[in-house]
Amino acid sequence: MTNKLKYFVGNWKMFGDFTSFKTVNKINQFSRKYKKLHKNKIILCVPNTLIFFFNKKLQSKNISLGAQNCHYYQNYGPFTGSVNSQMLKKTGAEYIILGHSENRSEGDTDKIIEKKINSSIKNKLNVIFCIGESYKQKKNGKTFSTLRKQMKNSLKKISNLNKIILAYEPIWSIGTNNIPKASQLKKTIKFIKNESKKILKIKKPIKVLYGGSVDPNNARSFSFIKEIDGFLIGRASQSAKKFIDIIENYYK
Ligand code: 13P
Repeated sequence: MTNKLKYFVGNWKMFGDFTSFKTVNKINQFSRKYKKLHKNKIILCVPNTLIFFFNKKLQSKNISLGAQNCHYYQNYGPFTGSVNSQMLKKTGAEYIILGHSENRSEGDTDKIIEKKINSSIKNKLNVIFCIGESYKQKKNGKTFSTLRKQMKNSLKKISNLNKIILAYEPIWSIGTNNIPKASQLKKTIKFIKNESKKILKIKKPIKVLYGGSVDPNNARSFSFIKEIDGFLIGRASQSAKKFIDIIENYYK
């Protein structure tokens, strides 16, 4: 079994209220003990309405909290209903998911995402930058060119790359219980690592997570793909039991 640091990131999406602290607390307690067994980092990206509350309530913090999106504008401004990265940082968020396909489908372009990444890094948030192809792009053999374009357009001008983790989330896998074939996934993660080195002109490969229908039943199968640095988990992260089962099954 690997002794490389692995990330387990929950993306709660639009889910949860103050009573959900019990889920966070269980995962936090699990993490305190489990960290001694395996090198891993647990991050929960929860709705903005809960970050400050969870952060205050957690007594000893063994996990990190994160946000799921922000406005591209860095300062205060006339953007009804929006929050910027600075405001999120002040709630106690350490991470932020950007470029999620659910936000892309609502109008986030590569350029807008680039601005969000820039502003988040300036405000000392760690960015989990999502890329991924649609089913149609996959069928037409456009997976690699889509991923290359997404990386190029949003990352080329970013200077502090230490603050970036990539997440490969094929759109056709999100919420569907379909996961890529192991051989294909391995190839794609390798492609992302190599390509990002070229685009960003860096020597050390960037970390790449996988996201899309990760659950307790398939978690173990991913452990054979050593190129994957961790997981971005949607539905299953809303349950402490499922989230913990994923981590335990991964290391079985
Ligand atoms: P599911 O795990 O529910 O498929 O969602 C994945 C995802 O979108 C994580 O960002």
